[in-house]
Amino acid sequence: MEKRSELYRGKAKTVFTTDDPELLILQFRNDTSAFDGERIDQLDRKGMVNNKFNHFIMGKLEEAGIATQLEALLADDEALVKKLEMIPVECVVRNRAAGSIVRRLGVEEGLVLNPPTFEFFLKNDALHDPMVNDFHIISFGWATQAQINEMKVLTFKVNNVLSALFDAAGLILVDYKLEFGVDANGNIVLGDEFTPDGCRLWDKATNQKMDKDRFRQGLGGVVEAYEEVASRLGVQLA
Ligand SMILES: Nc1ncnc2c1ncn2[C@@H]1O[C@H](COP(=O)(O)OP(=O)(O)OP(=O)(O)O)[C@@H](O)[C@H]1O
Ligand SMILES: [Mg+2]
Repeated sequence: MEKRSELYRGKAKTVFTTDDPELLILQFRNDTSAFDGERIDQLDRKGMVNNKFNHFIMGKLEEAGIATQLEALLADDEALVKKLEMIPVECVVRNRAAGSIVRRLGVEEGLVLNPPTFEFFLKNDALHDPMVNDFHIISFGWATQAQINEMKVLTFKVNNVLSALFDAAGLILVDYKLEFGVDANGNIVLGDEFTPDGCRLWDKATNQKMDKDRFRQGLGGVVEAYEEVASRLGVQLA
């Protein structure tokens, strides 16, 4: 596999083309951003930890029958993935209230949402990723009704698999966001990443935050918390 040119540099990852037009390389950088890129810091080891964490989680999702971009781990901070035509929305499931929903709806952080709730957000930093609904997605041509239905089913399936996985590791999966894309055959496939940068994980015993909220809230020990989660799950980092 030959790495070719840089296709896109996002806030946390750089995407490279390869000699295979259907495959890309995702490079996980140490850059950590919050508040739509207004605050950016370099956190030692984060690229490596997130790359391996993501590889582990996507492997578990594949085992559960969910199609993902996963191809291979190439290096500490690089993964080979299927090239997808990304759908520009984030799919969010919330098992408990935290983050933006607390401010938007005036509910208490930690409130258990039964059943878990689902939200779509448009990926647009300049607009601060506004919440959108199914009608917006169809009217603006970001995805079809069938694709929306499938993204919802898959996002909730991920919830069943990962809530159990994290629970067994003494962690509460509070919420998370997924990004899907369309592969060369027109199938909806899970892309991007599943890491503590894009989910909330609380320690079951202490309610301690073990995710990117440590960075957003200036709590420190960000990568240490990610490593603790990885270690509890059995993710091989070294
Ligand atoms: N399998 C894939 N095929 C194609 N593009 C992908 C794939 N997985 C992720 N991407 C895209 O690669 C980029 C990853 O970079 P990063 O997550 O750092 O971006 P970002 O700062 O979140 O920016 P953006 O808001 O543009 O996504 C994202 O735009 C993401 O949608
Ligand atoms: Mg991103």
